[in-house]
Amino acid sequence: METIFSGIQPSGIPTIGNYVGALKQFVELQDDYHCFFCVVDEHAITVPQDRLKLRQQTLGLAALYLAVGIDPNKSIIFIQSEVPAHAEAAWIVQCNTSIGELERMTQFKDKSQKTQRGGVSAGLLTYPPLMIADIILYNTNLVPVGEDQKQHLELTRDFVQRFNNRYAQKGQEILVTPEVKIPKRGARIMSLQEPTKKMSKSDSNPKGFISMLDEPNVIRKKIKSAVTDSIGTIEYDPTNRPGISNLLTIYEAVSDYSIDELVTKYEGKGYGEFKNDLAEAVVALLEPIQIRQKELLESEELHRILDEGAEKAQQVANKTLTKMQNAVGLGRKKR
Ligand code: TYM
Repeated sequence: METIFSGIQPSGIPTIGNYVGALKQFVELQDDYHCFFCVVDEHAITVPQDRLKLRQQTLGLAALYLAVGIDPNKSIIFIQSEVPAHAEAAWIVQCNTSIGELERMTQFKDKSQKTQRGGVSAGLLTYPPLMIADIILYNTNLVPVGEDQKQHLELTRDFVQRFNNRYAQKGQEILVTPEVKIPKRGARIMSLQEPTKKMSKSDSNPKGFISMLDEPNVIRKKIKSAVTDSIGTIEYDPTNRPGISNLLTIYEAVSDYSIDELVTKYEGKGYGEFKNDLAEAVVALLEPIQIRQKELLESEELHRILDEGAEKAQQVANKTLTKMQNAVGLGRKKR
């Protein structure tokens, strides 16, 4: 069985964009792959975080993984900082990556422009090496992510090739080259207020995103006030009509209808009815997830699953870390 690794930052509450681009894929893939799903809290501290809130969001996200249907009997769920191999491997990755490559990352450029409080941390620049470490430690074959992570995955593939070329014996390979898996539709859910901008959990305007923990009435209000256009018909045309096309993409992802079926269903109807139905479909998806997440947060089961997850992850990660240390000559040779 091939291996999957993916992670989400606990830097806020996941949005419906994170659900469509990542979580939904995780649930679908777990039957066919050996899966590791990580709450990447070390990534979250590349920008300032409130300590108590970060802890709360970390546990909340782990509970959400389970609540959406990731099954701990099939998949390994764990918190990044509880497996020290990630930070250790990231150092080796950093020492084999050039500053130029990191400065070219669009996410670094975007975030470093936005971050002002306390200046831009070195961690924001060296964030991709930590992500590379996450992936390679588990001999990952496939990484399900949204489109915004594609560039980081290309960097990962380049790194693996370079590392193997530099350190592996001829014809052998130390690290596995991962493939990226991006959903055909929904890889980039847009902001409800500015549909040409990606929906983001850290958007300063909460009307731009639907959080997975928003209450039903908040969801209804946000969808009602979503920006569309003055044409008034329900059609899919992302270039010319980004607002309505984004809503159709969300509707498809949260229901059993395809976009084509939705277009037929709403022929001759207006935005009002369409938005009402979409809101109910989103509520019907999220409400049971929210109830399960709350129950899990109050249970001991969550802690047991995370302890076990960290232990299992550690066993795999430490083996790869040892291989990397041996390759570059760190410490005494270990077996
Ligand atoms: P993060 O926490 O920003 O987002 C988590 C996942 O959600 C996807 N995503 C979206 N998909 C569709 N539409 C959107 N508007 C949208 N916003 C976010 C992201 O593409 C991602 O798949 N660096 C990563 C976390 C990470 C990781 C890893 C991922 C750390 N290590 C190793 C994969 C493998 C990040 O910041 O994701």
